[in-house]
Amino acid sequence: AWANVPQAPPDKILGLNILYQLDTNPNKIDLGVGAYRTDKGEPWIMPSIRMAEEILAKTETDKEYAPILGSPSFIDEVQRLLFNHDTSGYQLLADGRVVTAQGISGTGSLRVLSEFLAKFNPVCNAILPNPTWANHIAILQESGIVTSKYRYYDYKTNGLDIDGLIEDLQSADPRTVALFHLCCHNPTGVDATLEQWDQIIRVISERKLIPLLDMAYQGFESGDPIRDLRVLSKFNDAVTRGMIPTYLLAQSFAKNMGLYGERVGTLSIVCADSKEAEKVRSQLARVVRPMYSSPPTHGSKLATIVLGNTKVYRQWLKDVKKMVTRLNTMRTLLYDKLTIEYSSPVQWDHLLSQKGMFAYTGLNAEQVTKLRERKSVYMTSDGRISLAGITSGNVDYLAKSIDEVTRD
Ligand code: LMR
Repeated sequence: AWANVPQAPPDKILGLNILYQLDTNPNKIDLGVGAYRTDKGEPWIMPSIRMAEEILAKTETDKEYAPILGSPSFIDEVQRLLFNHDTSGYQLLADGRVVTAQGISGTGSLRVLSEFLAKFNPVCNAILPNPTWANHIAILQESGIVTSKYRYYDYKTNGLDIDGLIEDLQSADPRTVALFHLCCHNPTGVDATLEQWDQIIRVISERKLIPLLDMAYQGFESGDPIRDLRVLSKFNDAVTRGMIPTYLLAQSFAKNMGLYGERVGTLSIVCADSKEAEKVRSQLARVVRPMYSSPPTHGSKLATIVLGNTKVYRQWLKDVKKMVTRLNTMRTLLYDKLTIEYSSPVQWDHLLSQKGMFAYTGLNAEQVTKLRERKSVYMTSDGRISLAGITSGNVDYLAKSIDEVTRD
């Protein structure tokens, strides 16, 4: 019956893991998917999550369905986390202008937002940074939105092409959806400075673009999830000052709470007033109900405890700091090994200025293939490496392998 179904290519990120599992080389290194590992190369359940699980085991009274848009106590805690740390955000909440719903982690939340946009935004176009997370493009396109790229990464300077970015935003039609990574841009680790964000927000305002903000790595820029809200605060200011009427936000607790498989994340839409918010909320429920009915509850119950219990919350802040400290240590160690120990002729300074879970190495597709085939080092074909896969035990082998393929 399905003879005509063509074989689909493997997923660019998740497909790598299958190859990695099959590799029998004891020195193999997995630098593919962005998921935190300890210095022993093992997944990590954060102490704060362990605490939350203990509390939940004692207090949970049911396994009922959550409401279509998620449980009210979870939504309240998330809104407090995201909007209560700046006066504009606080004002938006107080005025009932923010609709927040639990999605299915970052991807599912983005997908609900794109379904909403495809239904209610008269312009079905979106512009995304070049490059961006591969799944962004698929998520929007599957909802029927036409995607194109705006200039972002400058391969000559290994930094942000701010002039190209501004120019491309300026030439977009009004109501075009413009997607931005709020911090720790995936895959490049290159973010706009706060001054550059002011410039970007001005163009969004002038061109009447619809900002779609993705925050999958809150906490990974500075080590502090609250400090990493600085760019979101700028958007809140822009809305309360009337510069922009709305923005849409997707965020995830996959990375910063290590709740990858629990699928916990949210979407928010900022509206003109509470009446508009009520209508938007009703339509979001209509998007979700025929897709998956209601979101999963275990992870969101844990996140509610983490955010709502002072002791657990303090532990969570420590846990995030610990992860980020280790990632930054590996970043520096790799840089030092390459430049000092192996005297690499390649300029690696960009590794140090990038932020977040990834390093965008600049290795080309051919070098990536050589690393995989000859050295059993696995990374995405764009040369992105997950720093979480580096340990004090494998960094030397990694640096040596990278140095070798770049000298070929
Ligand atoms: C990544 O970019 O590696 C992560 O966001 C995981 C994923 O789903 O692709």
